Amino acid sequence: MAWTLGIVIGGMTLLWIGWNLTLDALWQPTDPITMKRLLHLSEIQPGERLVDLGCGDGRFVVAAARDFGAIATGFEIDPFRVLFAKVWIWLARLSDRAKVVRRNMYEVDVSDADVVILFLSATSNFRLQKRLREQLRDGARVVSYYHPMWGWQPDMVGKARDGYPIYVYRMGDSLGKVSR
Ligand SMILES: C[S@@+](CC[C@H](N)C(=O)[O-])C[C@H]1O[C@@H](n2cnc3c(N)ncnc32)[C@H](O)[C@@H]1O
Repeated sequence: MAWTLGIVIGGMTLLWIGWNLTLDALWQPTDPITMKRLLHLSEIQPGERLVDLGCGDGRFVVAAARDFGAIATGFEIDPFRVLFAKVWIWLARLSDRAKVVRRNMYEVDVSDADVVILFLSATSNFRLQKRLREQLRDGARVVSYYHPMWGWQPDMVGKARDGYPIYVYRMGDSLGKVSR
């Protein structure tokens, strides 16, 4: 009995790891200091809407709602991380202004976001940027840790705790020549 259970749990874990390896961006949580830095650089204001695409365990969503008074939404494809994030939000009593939804980030509507947070991969940023460009209003900010957006002119570039760049983009003409 114990053997069977072990084989089933081991098999499911291997399947889960294998499936994760097929994603464009693997899970790697942002450290708390870098996270705070990104949120400050985003200039998120109380009542503004923040979206984290590929939100992992929901740490940006929790911090933005709790420490910055934002209305925060995270989209994550991994059901286990979504479950973890939902419990975290519930325990932190932030359900009125924070939520995490299990969705494919390439399909979500971000048109009402003031700030979009990205910590993904070069491929993901490339796949997302047309959608971001088309949907976000002028003045909205895209803040990407580590990976730049192709061909966009950053408003500023900050530094994470590990020395890697934090790119801040402001939608509008200052983005420069971009492909729509
Ligand atoms: C590098 S982690 C970043 C997690 C979190 N934003 C943070 O900074 O701590 C990237 C996350 O994107 C998620 N992800 C990858 N592809 C996705 C997709 N198509 N839709 C939604 N989430 C996705 C992964 O499961 C992973 O949790």
